[in-house]
Amino acid sequence: MDFFETVTNRHSYRGPFTDATIDKDALCKIVQAGLDAPSGMNKQTTSFVIVDDAPLVSQIGEMHQANKAVQQAKAFIVCLRDAEPEAIYEGCHFQIEDCSAAVQNMLLAITDMGFASVWIDGWLRTAGHATTIAQLLGVPDSKVVQIILPIGLPKYPPRGPEKQPFDQRAWFNRYGG
Ligand SMILES: Cc1cc2nc3c(=O)[nH]c(=O)nc-3n(C[C@H](O)[C@H](O)[C@H](O)COP(=O)(O)O)c2cc1C
Repeated sequence: MDFFETVTNRHSYRGPFTDATIDKDALCKIVQAGLDAPSGMNKQTTSFVIVDDAPLVSQIGEMHQANKAVQQAKAFIVCLRDAEPEAIYEGCHFQIEDCSAAVQNMLLAITDMGFASVWIDGWLRTAGHATTIAQLLGVPDSKVVQIILPIGLPKYPPRGPEKQPFDQRAWFNRYGG
């Protein structure tokens, strides 16, 4: 797929997956795209647990009542940051941004390879879901589950909401055009 086609074809997918599994090589390729992402001061703060063990995948999937892609995922990539991020520049840390850059790279890789996913973040912050997943995966208390990506082969073509037109969000040289 052409790069810009991949960018345009990436949509959050919350529908059903086929029964096709994803092999370890494909999962490693996706996570490598995450590892290759930029990070604040090159601290490379995001770490990843790749979940492809079927019983574990099901245990996570069963936690989400409303999202078929989570329920039927064939694998998850669980993205971790430090629980107490160290300030690295002017009192700031960039661990959320680091994680987001890695996730976007991985979403593009997932799309390019014909799989689908959705950025799961808000849901993790409710009902202790992030903590439950961390415990299932043996994540130490020093790390937090920030984002998870359910992955599978989509049963239906992923579609996303229309984006606002260019000239409503972007301008040359002066805000508002
Ligand atoms: C920071 C962030 C958090 C998100 N959290 C969730 C989430 O918890 N559950 C979900 O289904 N989608 C989540 N999404 C996906 C957005 O809903 C989605 O990107 C948006 O509706 C635009 O659709 P598109 O991704 O198809 O372009 C999140 C996206 C971002 C960037």
